[in-house]
Amino acid sequence: MRGAAFFSVFLLIMSLFSMTAAADIALPAPQTEGGMPLFEALKKRSSAHGGDFSTAEVKLEELSTVLWAATGLNRGQNGWTVPMAKGLPPYCRVYVAGSDGIWRYDWAGNSLREVSSENIKAKIAAQSFVKRAYYILVIVSDAEALSAINDEQAAADFAQVAAGAMTQDIYLAAASLRLGARYIHSIDREAIKSALKLPEGDEPICLMLLGK
Ligand SMILES: Cc1cc2nc3c(=O)[nH]c(=O)nc-3n(C[C@H](O)[C@H](O)[C@H](O)COP(=O)(O)O)c2cc1C
Repeated sequence: MRGAAFFSVFLLIMSLFSMTAAADIALPAPQTEGGMPLFEALKKRSSAHGGDFSTAEVKLEELSTVLWAATGLNRGQNGWTVPMAKGLPPYCRVYVAGSDGIWRYDWAGNSLREVSSENIKAKIAAQSFVKRAYYILVIVSDAEALSAINDEQAAADFAQVAAGAMTQDIYLAAASLRLGARYIHSIDREAIKSALKLPEGDEPICLMLLGK
């Protein structure tokens, strides 16, 4: 009897573990070679009109490539596609909001870590078309990582500069993959903080809409 109870608890723990593990997503390798020449992508970079986003799926391979462009490792374990002051690891994080939930991009592991299974696309921005994007990338400053920078204003500036570099990389990767992208500043910061369960001090900076 004792053995049966122990076995039931063991099974319960294993099933909880597999539920958590299944919610994270191991991303396919990003495209890091070939593709559209940079200067062609620069000529094609533009903001998609909100109403133009269709329901067509953005594949995980495409999402992986866009996230890698935003803040992926590009030189071994200590170099990123965007410049980070003082050689620090990225002090802005990217979250992905989709119809099935919210994930945090883990640049070190090329994976998505589940935050929740909520669809928040309709409640984090002022403009109603925002929810039409297949994925919404949310760029957030990381207060703990920024604590390495003593001056508060400089830390805030550095996060904005990083977000600018990240969003331009997203625009260029999207142009190269023939996806639509749009920068969104008019966001509901409190709704985002709560939905993303952000630690104290972390600030949502902007959204990048991604879709076909
Ligand atoms: C700092 C900044 C804030 C923006 N905020 C919004 C926004 O809140 N909503 C929106 O629909 N577009 C927003 N945009 C997108 C601009 O409207 C778009 O980039 C601009 O019309 C130029 O178009 P282009 O990117 O195709 O050159 C923003 C762009 C920037 C650079």
